[in-house]
Amino acid sequence: MLFHSRVLGCGAYLPERIVTNEELAERIDTSNEWIVERTGIRERRIAGDGERTSDLALHAARAALAKAGVAPSEVDLVVLATTTPDDVFPATAARVQAALGCESGAAFDVQAVCAGFIFALAVADNAIRLNQAKTALVVGAETFSRLLDWNDRGTCVLFGDGAGAIVLRGFPGAPNARQRGVVSTHLHTDGRLYDILYVNGGPSSTQTVGTVRMQGKEVFRHAVAKLSDVVLEALKANDLSPADIDWLVPHQANERIIDGTVRKLRLGSERVIKTVERHANTSAASVPLALAEGVADGRIKEGQLILVEAIGGGLAWGAGLVRW
Ligand code: ACO
Repeated sequence: MLFHSRVLGCGAYLPERIVTNEELAERIDTSNEWIVERTGIRERRIAGDGERTSDLALHAARAALAKAGVAPSEVDLVVLATTTPDDVFPATAARVQAALGCESGAAFDVQAVCAGFIFALAVADNAIRLNQAKTALVVGAETFSRLLDWNDRGTCVLFGDGAGAIVLRGFPGAPNARQRGVVSTHLHTDGRLYDILYVNGGPSSTQTVGTVRMQGKEVFRHAVAKLSDVVLEALKANDLSPADIDWLVPHQANERIIDGTVRKLRLGSERVIKTVERHANTSAASVPLALAEGVADGRIKEGQLILVEAIGGGLAWGAGLVRW
């Protein structure tokens, strides 16, 4: 028998410390005007000393479970998307699983950088569809600030830290776009573009952690084209059009990438949830943070059709269609 997964709740967590563009401009050769005009970002949150990715993830996961009314003992799958794990191994998901008090099932990390949450959503949804899991916690969590070269003004102004999570539960019957649940997910990677966005370190290459290196214009160009393509792919797979979407919840990398994608889709900016101004790019956390904000302020309502999309290093990109 086939199952489909429904979102029962979502939650978010942002570190306390706010770093404004003005504060960055005191340390590096940049300005609030430059950053706002090129990216739409005004401020970002930065994790405190000793605050780890698992700490952020745990706060978001607890909030999502509380909203869902689900006990940790009911969770039999934790999939955590991150580029900034606490340690090289074990998976940060394992630490979150233990801290929550989940007693059974599997917990592992997914690494698809900024597209990580979409990949994690797909993995968890597929497990539920096949009845391999009944209740899944899907988390995107990052302390991305730890991967930044704070002297590289071309990258350090773009990112922030945070975490978001959703709880999925399986219900009998195949998914379809008219009933609540994850309708479909669509994933892509083009490894030929590895070098346009990467971290110049790792256990097997340099034995260091490294920092982010990016060809910004190239990333920008691919982002708008690939995100619009994957959104159209998701709609076509379900015989839907942009007019059917209630909310687009895009990856919050850059306001110009979001606006460019929305223009290509002829969607109407009033149906787009944006948090980039206050969160900057939180990589795998960006989509669940935006979802949690849209739900908390009442924009996203039960029964609405939500389209999520994201792209990041790999390049890896994807989209998911969810009847909330
Ligand atoms: N402040 C002031 N000046 C800056 C800054 C800064 N923070 N950063 C770069 N500059 C300067 C450059 O040095 C350059 O100066 P020069 O002309 O004297 O050489 C000038 O501004 C123009 O630089 P460009 O890199 O050409 O600027 P561009 O218009 O391409 O904007 C940006 C850069 C914002 C990074 C843009 O390329 C972009 O948004 N790319 C997408 C990247 C992205 O979002 N990555 C996130 C990860 S991937 C993802 O999540 C999608």
